[in-house]
Amino acid sequence: MERTEIKQALARTDYGAKINVKGWVRTRRGNKAVSFIALNDGSTIKNIQIVADNEKFDEETLRLVTTGACISATGTLVESLGKGQTVEIQADSIEVYGTADPETYPLQKKGHTLEYLREKAYLRPRTNTFGAVFRMRSQMAMAIHTYFQERGFFYFHTPLITASDCEGAGQMFQVTTLNLYDLKKDKDGNIDYSRDFFGKQAALTVSGQLEGELGALSLGKIYTFGPTFRAENSNTPRHLSEFWMIEPEMAFYDLNDNMALAQDFIQYCVRWALEKCQDDLAFLEQMYDKELTQRLRFVVENDFQRLTYTEGIEILKAAAAKGKKFEFPVDWGTDLQSEHERYLVEEHFKKPVILIDYPKEIKSFYMKQNDDGKTVRAMDVLFPHIGEIIGGSEREADYDKLAKRAEEMHVPMKDIWWYLDTRRWGSAPHSGFGLGFERLMLFVTGMQNIRDVIPFPRTPNNADF
Ligand code: 4AD
Ligand code: MG
Repeated sequence: MERTEIKQALARTDYGAKINVKGWVRTRRGNKAVSFIALNDGSTIKNIQIVADNEKFDEETLRLVTTGACISATGTLVESLGKGQTVEIQADSIEVYGTADPETYPLQKKGHTLEYLREKAYLRPRTNTFGAVFRMRSQMAMAIHTYFQERGFFYFHTPLITASDCEGAGQMFQVTTLNLYDLKKDKDGNIDYSRDFFGKQAALTVSGQLEGELGALSLGKIYTFGPTFRAENSNTPRHLSEFWMIEPEMAFYDLNDNMALAQDFIQYCVRWALEKCQDDLAFLEQMYDKELTQRLRFVVENDFQRLTYTEGIEILKAAAAKGKKFEFPVDWGTDLQSEHERYLVEEHFKKPVILIDYPKEIKSFYMKQNDDGKTVRAMDVLFPHIGEIIGGSEREADYDKLAKRAEEMHVPMKDIWWYLDTRRWGSAPHSGFGLGFERLMLFVTGMQNIRDVIPFPRTPNNADF
């Protein structure tokens, strides 16, 4: 008999019909006469209840129907009298596809901690929580593509293996086929990379932006959506070594256009979550974060507060003078710590903030320089509970200014000459930004740790599964 997905089965009202469902047993309870099996196949957070009269089944079959086992159940669709469910299946036959020994299966029906589940990351998609998170992750990817596709942006594929360090932070994972057991060095101790696979030193990209700019300066508006890699040794709830980034890049956009796009884009994604992920959101709200949908609605309904870095520093200094304790000092010229960002967003403005015009020393070489000689046309979007969710800027379009800044910041010409060339021929004002996909996922799911919004997290000392 043809299988019905549980999401579809739960929406049916043709009581009396024969139906087959397949899935993994969440629980089995009951008494001498009857067994109730809660079955889930991943199509929805909701389980369907299978009711089995024990006398119709041999004891051996029912004994194998334990938490985690995979079964196929065929029977009659009936209206359910139990509360919280509309239909259930009165079973005629049950086939056990795969057993799950209760002595060894790591996911028993009692709730497990998120820390424990991280150690079982290869099984955790079978839990309610991670089912909800990963269904939402898939939805948010669709939201992102739909947003850009409907607005004339082209999906532009940038390389993962590259020789240029876009952010200039020296946090790249090297890619090599040289024999590390037998590395040949010249008399100065240098490695001869001309003998390496690409004939030069190569690494995994930290950002698709530089290549994305080439796309924007020919197709007009592009976006990337792919994995990026950072070998930064920060063990925080907001950093991954491998994360997904969305990077739109637009010709003829200035910083104001860029800010407007960033706000509209995030609000669209959050609205998508509210509309298309209601069951999963309701579950996460109930389990983890009572204010989740309220916070999502708030972001959709309110304009983000725009202000300069310098104004932000003044607010933080005034707060510190009034007794607000920060772990890190606040001084013009230093990068804001997460505690500072969160103070501005959660305590001062009580809404998302876009900070612009940062000191050039703490930002990358490619940002457009302001006339004051001190700041650049950067923008960071700061969110409640997250801190920085987006980083972007208007780009320096002037060849001489860009080349000088690259030199000052020791970005090797041999790696970025092709990028500078875009400013030699047909240069244009343009802007773009990068949204960390997992930071967006943290926000829309209300989860606290970035390791819990990507199926297989990569962090310092962890590349399991
Ligand atoms: O601020 P970042 O470093 O900016 C760039 O990479 C630019 N090239 C983007 C652009 O203008 N096209 O990173 C952008 C965003 C951050 O705001 C943050 O959301 C996320 O990427 N991000 C991380 N997410 C998870 N783990 C990490 N280690 C991250 N580093 C940055
Ligand atoms: Mg940044």
